[in-house]
Amino acid sequence: MPLRAAKQFTKNVLRSLGYSIIRTPRNEGIASAPPPPAWPEKDYSRMIWFPASSANGDAGGDVPSDGTPAEYAESCYQRGQAAYAAGHADEAFRCYSKTLALIHRHGAAVAAMKALAGDYYAAGRAESASGNTAAAKQFWVRAVECDPANAEIRCELEKLIAAEGKRDLTRHCYIFYDPKRAEAIHREAVLRSLEFVSIAGVPGDIMEFGVLGGWSARIFGETMRDLMNMGNLHLFDSFDGLPDYSSQIDIDSYEIGGRDLWANKMRFPDEFVRELGSPVDVHIKDRLGDVLSGERIQIHRGFYSETLRQPLKAKAALVHVDCDLYQSTVEVLQRLYEMDVFQDGCVLMFDDWNCNKASPNYGERRAFREFLEWQDQYTTSPFFTYGFNGAVFILHDKNA
Ligand SMILES: C[S@@+](CC[C@H](N)C(=O)[O-])C[C@H]1O[C@@H](n2cnc3c(N)ncnc32)[C@H](O)[C@@H]1O
Repeated sequence: MPLRAAKQFTKNVLRSLGYSIIRTPRNEGIASAPPPPAWPEKDYSRMIWFPASSANGDAGGDVPSDGTPAEYAESCYQRGQAAYAAGHADEAFRCYSKTLALIHRHGAAVAAMKALAGDYYAAGRAESASGNTAAAKQFWVRAVECDPANAEIRCELEKLIAAEGKRDLTRHCYIFYDPKRAEAIHREAVLRSLEFVSIAGVPGDIMEFGVLGGWSARIFGETMRDLMNMGNLHLFDSFDGLPDYSSQIDIDSYEIGGRDLWANKMRFPDEFVRELGSPVDVHIKDRLGDVLSGERIQIHRGFYSETLRQPLKAKAALVHVDCDLYQSTVEVLQRLYEMDVFQDGCVLMFDDWNCNKASPNYGERRAFREFLEWQDQYTTSPFFTYGFNGAVFILHDKNA
């Protein structure tokens, strides 16, 4: 067969098989495979970006919870604009917060927050001039939440807090030998974790299990504020020390059976609390109110076996597990799972990962391993470790 006829024959055969002939100036007649079938479209309408009754409130009532994340973020922004135009600054703040939770650097929402900061700052100055420093502080805390890089507002707020001269338990690290080093390590770990959820657009709240005097809670609050992570901060603790050891695994562990490390059960003595002037949880909520506005700090006082019976209608972006015991960690993981609080991309920080000689048979390590075996929805990837004791993981929802 002549060459030209042979080429034509080959083309005809390829075409009949569904191949197309791409002509390029240098290489005419090369056959390319048919395009692969497109992946099925993801059905975002099945997804709910925030539970309607999340503690942060829903962004203005009738915002649809479907659509893509970008559409939902935009609708929240528009509602924020409407609320602002109608003079409802707090509602505008909540709407813009939802936008920023999905798209961390949403330029218009960031600019709108800066405008809000100016208004709150002015309102605080008016209160301050009339001698109402408590009201001034609330406005300025909110102003810094809206524009954390604003040095002038931060400076005014810091002066006001310093002038109050209050004792502050949340500034004391009770756990580590070298508090300065511990603080540097924990700040970096919290920053990395919060940067991840903020920039990845994992919306929702930050939850801490194991608060003690609020030292790590302050680090979370300050980092959330500075990063403009706009979720709520949930603090879970008995504020009365560890529960009785009910699990044989804890009783047999190196920390308890071997050394009885927490003989005082991490309970602040009555005399200490009396001197403090208010119950530990009330004190913490008040002092952290210098960092985040009060409505964003949710205290859950009591043993987890009680407090986690109350429905928790919020999604977690990050869960900090710092409650030492196997039994407590089991209760936390099991109940958060049952209440559908976890989500794809949720970060789990285990502060006591290497307790008990890092043995997988005890403590948080064992509880997390068993959690992964017990349920079928979530798998995990290790993220990083911090200090001598901590480890961070990311959860993956198999159905997402
Ligand atoms: C190591 S301390 C937390 C330290 C705190 N995160 C910090 O860095 O300052 C552990 C806390 O877990 C709390 N805890 C442990 N198991 C608990 C449970 N089942 N229910 C309530 N609180 C619990 C204890 O009351 C204690 O305050």
